[in-house]
Amino acid sequence: MNAYNFNQIEPQIEQRVERLLVQMTLEEKVGQMTQISVDRLGRDEAEQRIRQGQVGSVLTFYGAAEINRLQKMAAEESRLGIPLIIGNDVIHGYRTIFPIPLAESCTWDPALLEASARIAAEEASADGTDWTFAPMVDICRDPRWGRIAEGAGEDPFLGAALAQARVRGFQAANLASGRKLVACAKHYAAYGAAEGGKDYNTVDMSERRLRDVYLPPFKAAFEAGAGTVMSSFNELNGVPSTANPFLLRQVLREEWGFVGPVLADYNALKELIPHGLAADLQEAARLSALAGLDMDMVADGYHIHLADLVRAGQVPEAVIDEAVRRVLRLKLMLGLFERPFTDETLAETIILKEEFREKALEVAQKSMVLLKNEGGLLPLGQNVRRIALIGPLADDHHEILGCWYRIGRDEDTESVLDGFRAVLPASVQLTHVRGCDLVGAETPDIEAAVAAARAADVAILVLGEGEFMSGEAHSRAYLGLPGQQQALLEAVYASGTPVVAVLMSGRPLVIPWLANHIPAILQAWHGGIRTGRAVADILLGRANPSGKLTASWPRSEGQIPVYHAYKNTGRPAEGEGTIQFNKPHRAEYLDELNTPLYPFGYGLSYTGFAYEDLRVETPLVGANDTLVVSATVRNTGQRAGVEIAQLYVRDLVGSVTRPVKELKGFRRVSLEPGRQQRVRFEVPVQALGFWGLDMTYIVEPGKFKVWVGPNAATGLEGEFEVKAG
Ligand code: NOJ
Repeated sequence: MNAYNFNQIEPQIEQRVERLLVQMTLEEKVGQMTQISVDRLGRDEAEQRIRQGQVGSVLTFYGAAEINRLQKMAAEESRLGIPLIIGNDVIHGYRTIFPIPLAESCTWDPALLEASARIAAEEASADGTDWTFAPMVDICRDPRWGRIAEGAGEDPFLGAALAQARVRGFQAANLASGRKLVACAKHYAAYGAAEGGKDYNTVDMSERRLRDVYLPPFKAAFEAGAGTVMSSFNELNGVPSTANPFLLRQVLREEWGFVGPVLADYNALKELIPHGLAADLQEAARLSALAGLDMDMVADGYHIHLADLVRAGQVPEAVIDEAVRRVLRLKLMLGLFERPFTDETLAETIILKEEFREKALEVAQKSMVLLKNEGGLLPLGQNVRRIALIGPLADDHHEILGCWYRIGRDEDTESVLDGFRAVLPASVQLTHVRGCDLVGAETPDIEAAVAAARAADVAILVLGEGEFMSGEAHSRAYLGLPGQQQALLEAVYASGTPVVAVLMSGRPLVIPWLANHIPAILQAWHGGIRTGRAVADILLGRANPSGKLTASWPRSEGQIPVYHAYKNTGRPAEGEGTIQFNKPHRAEYLDELNTPLYPFGYGLSYTGFAYEDLRVETPLVGANDTLVVSATVRNTGQRAGVEIAQLYVRDLVGSVTRPVKELKGFRRVSLEPGRQQRVRFEVPVQALGFWGLDMTYIVEPGKFKVWVGPNAATGLEGEFEVKAG
């Protein structure tokens, strides 16, 4: 699939940028650095400013006809006719809503994510959008943070691969609209490391951790051609990202050579005041401009103050010119000057196309993770004649859309009840009882639920969070089932009828009781419009689950952060520890295990897979060589299935301590029953390095362990050595 690289300078475009720039007044330049919200400003003021050339971009504005109307004011009625760029949050689908990004990441399938992003781009672009504020590439190791739903989980290697796939999909060439769409890597940077998982909270971390863990997905996104970046709300080591010259100038421009514009997050420029970095909006504008922030989202700090700051000599005009160049370059690359308007009849022929709905089903199926299947309860067999479908999410048409559904509609969705009705043979009796609300203390139907379970061969409980419980500003301190759902679950379990739990959520949940008692658990996330059908297909064995977790599931909130790439410490939990006061002293809790409930990379299938015969084909490698490791994966069960084989390494001794495991490769392997495949991993040794003591990236000589296996907690083990020189 072809994708545009917005990071490649084209001489003709540069000439056009310069020709425009010399014609622009200072106010017009500042206009290009200003993004407005029509709702926030009011229609009249917004339109007046657009006609005066004081607006570069509009956000959260939908529909080709409406967009064309605004675009006409910019492209035909303003003095220089510079078109607007329309930006929207197209995060996991436009109208065809796909699973939330965290769910999508559990497919470990870059090609599939590219396809889903491309569909989102097709629909959004056909409806007038030029710019999506996605992909969200924040690494997150704290499921209390509601925005873990929007990213690809805890790992930088997987995060980078999926960031690139999404960028390629969004920026696909040959969209049906004949236009282009540009992606925006966000939120730059380290937003996912908010203290305590509280949204917008302080981030303070070593530069090494920042570079080793949080920055790689951004760099990868730009290497794949991502044309824009959004600065994050948080402060990083004392300086909010929106006015952080280290992030915006040193890393982004000087080290990575990124040429696109940096957009502030919503009102983030003004928020430098409560952060305590700026005394007032004028100072906030000055600090942001000097730090390298190119576009102000809705705060109006640039609109009100920037021209005066230039005239007062407090911000060099050269700084403004650079920012304006970036915005104009992007608009020219997008072809907005040639094609400012969108065909208003196009969207209806594109939106919710059958093939898009099919792809949404495929992604939903592949993103769901089978967490437990004791005694092979799933898939439900011929012996199941009566099913009780219970729970507040069993016939839900809204929560499944997830946290960023925007123009998605409830009426486009299939609930789990719909899904079962569509595929269940008429001979199987299906009863539905809601049981209780999603949140709140009322328990109207628990008795009815228990009665339905008693009268059934199996009870399927569909439980979890609403879409409003994850995403921006929706962090939680308790990650169990909300409301009366635990009570409902325990009552139905006590009926003695076998129970299958289907969980929907925007994050890893804390479910110790459920994991102990319930024999079969499917994590369905907020799976988008086809959630219900995907669940029915999986529970009935029409699809074999293959999803694997991309964020560790904690046993309890007190364990957080729990993630696979932790450091060993001097007193690790495994091994003897140090004896002091006659007892081993270890890095562990008195009252909780160290291990997660479900590790990173974990997920079951209806078939089984065995890993055999690990071969480290290059036991001694140089820093510029390729490490080659292979293993046989065999389908040991009765069904065809897909296994996601993973490769991890550990650098045993370093000048800086290294994590106990780091993901460095993954492969999807599709196997018929009884068949096997030799899976070969080729890892550039350069990818095994880290940011050293002097803050340069190095690959140190020395011994490594390597594992190939089904998840981060287990695998075949081997070793290799990186030689000196
Ligand atoms: C704030 C969010 O942090 C960001 O992700 C989003 O793109 C903007 N609002 C615009 O809606």
